[in-house]
Amino acid sequence: MPKEGRFHTLIEPFRIKVVEPIRLTTRAKRRGWLEAAGYNPFLLHADQVLIDLLTDSGTSAMSQDQWAGVMRGDESYAGARSWFTFRDTVREITGFEHVIPVHQGRAAERILFSTTVKPGQRVLNNTHFDTTRASVEAAGGTAVDLPCAEASDLESEYPFKGNLDLGRTRAELETHGRDGIALVMITVTNNSGGGQPASLENVRAASELAHEFGVPFYLDACRFAENAWFIKQREPGQQDRAVEAIAGDLFEAADGCTFSAKKDALANIGGFLATRDPDLASRERNLLILTEGFPTYGGMAGRDLEAVAQGLREVLDEDYLDYRVGSVAYVHARARAHDVPLLCPAGGHAVYIDARRFLPHVPFEELPGIAVAGALYEDGGIRGVEIGTCMFGSTDPETGREKPHVQDLVRLAVPRRVYTQSHMDFVVEVLAHTHARREDIGGLAFVHQQAPLRHFTARFRRL
Ligand code: F0G
Repeated sequence: MPKEGRFHTLIEPFRIKVVEPIRLTTRAKRRGWLEAAGYNPFLLHADQVLIDLLTDSGTSAMSQDQWAGVMRGDESYAGARSWFTFRDTVREITGFEHVIPVHQGRAAERILFSTTVKPGQRVLNNTHFDTTRASVEAAGGTAVDLPCAEASDLESEYPFKGNLDLGRTRAELETHGRDGIALVMITVTNNSGGGQPASLENVRAASELAHEFGVPFYLDACRFAENAWFIKQREPGQQDRAVEAIAGDLFEAADGCTFSAKKDALANIGGFLATRDPDLASRERNLLILTEGFPTYGGMAGRDLEAVAQGLREVLDEDYLDYRVGSVAYVHARARAHDVPLLCPAGGHAVYIDARRFLPHVPFEELPGIAVAGALYEDGGIRGVEIGTCMFGSTDPETGREKPHVQDLVRLAVPRRVYTQSHMDFVVEVLAHTHARREDIGGLAFVHQQAPLRHFTARFRRL
């Protein structure tokens, strides 16, 4: 028996009090629905999906205490009780004085970049998420991805593949200086790069480096608790520390953060932007009032403020994090045992399939990620998302040829507290089945696309 009376079986640390039916469908039906959706999983109806791994964002199951908070929500326009609960919780966990509530992460991004980025300036990040990149570009800036070198080897087990490449960051800062670089950021965990964590050491070093050049350092903190858990597991000297203290150290290194409460606040909507700078906060609040709402609710209802505040406390529970990150690692290990090519090690919120190795006969121009995502849906009703040439590449207007992204991945993101181990066993079985018939799976071509963020609405045809 393992130490402290713990067994090996990973159990969900909750009981289920409310259930939502999901329905089994036939392969023939799914084939028709996928065709009608132009082979784009974003265009399927959710009712046509059996296990929805499109995103971990806004899809969490809320706890009884969050639902109790929903009932307590104070819907006063200004100065609601729920606002103070929210603000004080965010201050306590992050240490940031100025908290600006928004309806979701991208609203925080838009406000941050439109107040800090001047046209022509650069934002450096380990990897910008799709909306983050689009928001930097909408403000007239250039989004520069600087993941560490270890991240490009999809099979390496390097423990902190979410690290920022400090050498290339210094070179950027030396070349462009304070005037040319608006912000240095680290996304924890690095979602577009495989849900991989950044180390505390790397976050602190990036902060010092940015500050050496007088540039502010920010966190995209969507999955801060999962990142802090990885630090506790993997970073020398951190094993005996509380996850909450490690998370506090991450925030302490930063001048501010953007946050989507749809991830590590276990809520279905919400977010915030935070800073230590009172002048910046006041400019941000002016913009907030214009497009989101009054500064004591921003883009959220009072009930949402309560759900997020409670979720922020629950997400730092170490039994929860052990189960959460462990359940993703479980799928990863079992799928690898069937030789399904995956990005290693397992991410915190998702398993990432390496579509180029899954379909070696499909070149990147024929969108292997879209092909794998379609096949998983057709075979098992599982919905994932391509993170590759469709999401981050582009079509050259002159030649009509695709410019590739560095990788073609398919992300299977696991909603928090939603699916059980038997759902995950089913996912592994489908993965193994689809991989075994991979030679029958062909590529696709665009029939419709619209920039920016073409992946949300694109339609394809099978080649
Ligand atoms: N930053 C990161 C790292 C994200 O993963 C997301 C959203 C955002 C910012 C934007 O937050 O959706 O609340 O506006 N990611 C979701 C996903 C959509 O599926 O990974 P949002």
